[in-house]
Amino acid sequence: MIRYLTAGESHGKALTVIIEGVPAGLEISTEYIETELKRRKQGYGRGGRQQIETDEIEILSGIRFGKTIASPITILIRNKDFENWTKIMEPMAEVPDDYENMTIPRPGHADYAGVMKYGFEDIRNVLERSSARETAMRVVVGSFAKKILEEIGVGITSYVTNIGGVKIVEDLQDILEINKRKKKSQVMTVDSTIEKKMINAIDKAKADGLALGGEVRVVTSVMPIGLGSYVQWDRKLDANIAKAVMSIQAIKGVAIGMGFEVANKTGDKVHDPFLLEDNYIVRDSNNAGGIEGGMSNGEPIIVTAAMKPIPTMKKPLASVNLATDEITNTFYERADVCAVPACSVVCEHVVAIELANALLEKFGGDSMEELIGLL
Ligand SMILES: Cc1cc2nc3c(=O)[nH]c(=O)nc-3n(C[C@H](O)[C@H](O)[C@H](O)COP(=O)(O)O)c2cc1C
Repeated sequence: MIRYLTAGESHGKALTVIIEGVPAGLEISTEYIETELKRRKQGYGRGGRQQIETDEIEILSGIRFGKTIASPITILIRNKDFENWTKIMEPMAEVPDDYENMTIPRPGHADYAGVMKYGFEDIRNVLERSSARETAMRVVVGSFAKKILEEIGVGITSYVTNIGGVKIVEDLQDILEINKRKKKSQVMTVDSTIEKKMINAIDKAKADGLALGGEVRVVTSVMPIGLGSYVQWDRKLDANIAKAVMSIQAIKGVAIGMGFEVANKTGDKVHDPFLLEDNYIVRDSNNAGGIEGGMSNGEPIIVTAAMKPIPTMKKPLASVNLATDEITNTFYERADVCAVPACSVVCEHVVAIELANALLEKFGGDSMEELIGLL
């Protein structure tokens, strides 16, 4: 079972993670993890922060000669932007004489609930940790999970299906085809005509001082049958995937397979009939998204997630200054206009973690050699 804890503030010294439960003997390279991190930095519509951060990793423990040794893995990413924030983000710094608390909560952020919950007078205490900068570490953990899946022949990818209401119509489930088409795309999508419209929508939102959300889809290759279980609520694969994806900043909906559309159709248009082909049981469709009864059913796993628009926008929203009770406008701090492509990469990695965990639960194995032998 892979467990992990991330730490670090957005403009603090560094992000760190401790990962436990990765089987011994998994070969992984710095380059492999940094390639995944680079994918998270990309995508049309992202803000200036991505140019500052290089997201280079330092591996501090748990790996020798390029292979995991079962002990906890510690990884660090230094925030390059920290040097611009040392006066107020160095943990033991004195409060500067000219320091002013942030007291205007931004709707859509953790700001208001966070200061009320912890009794802070300074919203910065909340926003530094609630920021999606933390998702870099989910990608680091997910890289280990993706590597485990790769070793047993399972592929996983993701693509953007909707930006601000501009949608892909095709339902692609072939990961090789997705990867081929996505390579050329600035918004990590699979249809070049729709892509142009998505980019125009982002440009318009930017010009208007607004932000856009959208939808992303995670797709795997065929999966071993029986990951997860129907016998207990917290062992259901779909439930665990939904929780992991919903925990990503700005995700407001998660669907497996056909998702919400099931509510609009009769049963014969939803459930995937069994067929027999050359003595093999096959399915004619995959509306279930590869999961039935909380278990993988052997088909590709399909997960779709909805991301809300970025809450920090040039065009201000109404707010209240918590220090003075005056009605005012939100402040603007550098932000993405659209982070849906980056979010697809994060979703892919958290789904990979859940799948690797379900795989380890079913087949066990303290080492990769044992796991592969048991499969
Ligand atoms: C990859 C990614 C990048 C994000 N970038 C920003 C950003 O630049 N500015 C911002 O205000 N919110 C950004 N967000 C969204 C906020 O972090 C998120 O909406 C906020 O923490 C509140 O959490 P909630 O939306 O889950 O309730 C981003 C989210 C993701 C997944």
